[in-house]
Amino acid sequence: DISLSVQMGTKAVLCCPHIPPTSVLIITTWKIHLRDKLSCSMSLNRERNQSEKNNCTDGRISWASRPDQNPELQIHPVSISHEGDYRCEMGTLEGNFEHTYHLQVLVPPEVTLSLEKNRTVECKAIAGRPAAQIFWAPEGDCVTGKEYQDNGTVTTRSRCHYPDGNLSTVTCLVSHPTGNRSQSIDLLPG
Ligand SMILES: *[C@@H]1O[C@H](CO)[C@@H](O)[C@H](O)[C@H]1NC(C)=O
Ligand SMILES: *[C@@H]1O[C@H](CO)[C@@H](O)[C@H](O)[C@H]1NC(C)=O
Ligand SMILES: *[C@@H]1O[C@H](CO)[C@@H](O)[C@H](O)[C@H]1NC(C)=O
Ligand SMILES: *[C@@H]1O[C@H](CO)[C@@H](O)[C@H](O)[C@H]1NC(C)=O
Ligand SMILES: *[C@@H]1O[C@H](CO)[C@@H](O)[C@H](O)[C@H]1NC(C)=O
Ligand SMILES: *[C@@H]1O[C@H](CO)[C@@H](O)[C@H](O)[C@H]1NC(C)=O
Repeated sequence: DISLSVQMGTKAVLCCPHIPPTSVLIITTWKIHLRDKLSCSMSLNRERNQSEKNNCTDGRISWASRPDQNPELQIHPVSISHEGDYRCEMGTLEGNFEHTYHLQVLVPPEVTLSLEKNRTVECKAIAGRPAAQIFWAPEGDCVTGKEYQDNGTVTTRSRCHYPDGNLSTVTCLVSHPTGNRSQSIDLLPG
């Protein structure tokens, strides 16, 4: 089994297992179980050279190229609803080969940093998946929380107070699997 993380909006291509060059391929089937319980399958009978069965109605899931040449599956563009398990089964005269991908969809958060009254700053990592983590340099007197949106994204919000009147600049560091980012802001004096 293979864990695979792909960014929303991109194209994902999933490969089938490598079969020994001497084996005779009869049928390739992709079985798809999406997290919201929908399941469907697509199969190709190599001898008859045609796509036999396909009850996957999501037009973004298709064979990557001509299936008689290549049984890879393509998801384009990837959305959060595509999270789930994708199993490629290859039936050959010598036996069956299969593997399963556990697909996780990543959404980069939008980062904002704003200055509030009284030497307080707020950093937000908006609508990321999974939830982003927020760190500060230097550490302040902080309150951090998460808001879960219906579409599966999470907004992380952290608000910090800096009573030290000599400190002039603070930095918010957002850590996320799609890449870490940082933003700095100047505090008002006093
Ligand atoms: C596709 O077919 C499989 C097995 O025949 C069935 O379990 C599944 O619910 C079907 N999916 C759709 C979307 O019709
Ligand atoms: C399979 O079908 C395609 C068209 O659908 C054709 O171009 C190709 O030559 C066929 N291959 C074999 C091995 O019959
Ligand atoms: C500024 O923040 C400090 C610490 O949270 C608090 O004690 C103080 O009352 C605040 N002052 C104003 C004017 O809000
Ligand atoms: C999810 O919902 C939030 C809040 O409504 C929105 O800002 C964000 O763009 C949405 N993201 C996706 C991937 O649909
Ligand atoms: C702020 O800086 C001044 C001058 O460098 C120093 O005397 C004072 O102790 C500093 N205050 C704090 C809270 O560090
Ligand atoms: C992002 O930040 C986290 C926490 O500081 C760190 O563990 C991780 O290695 C960083 N990732 C990248 C790609 O720099």
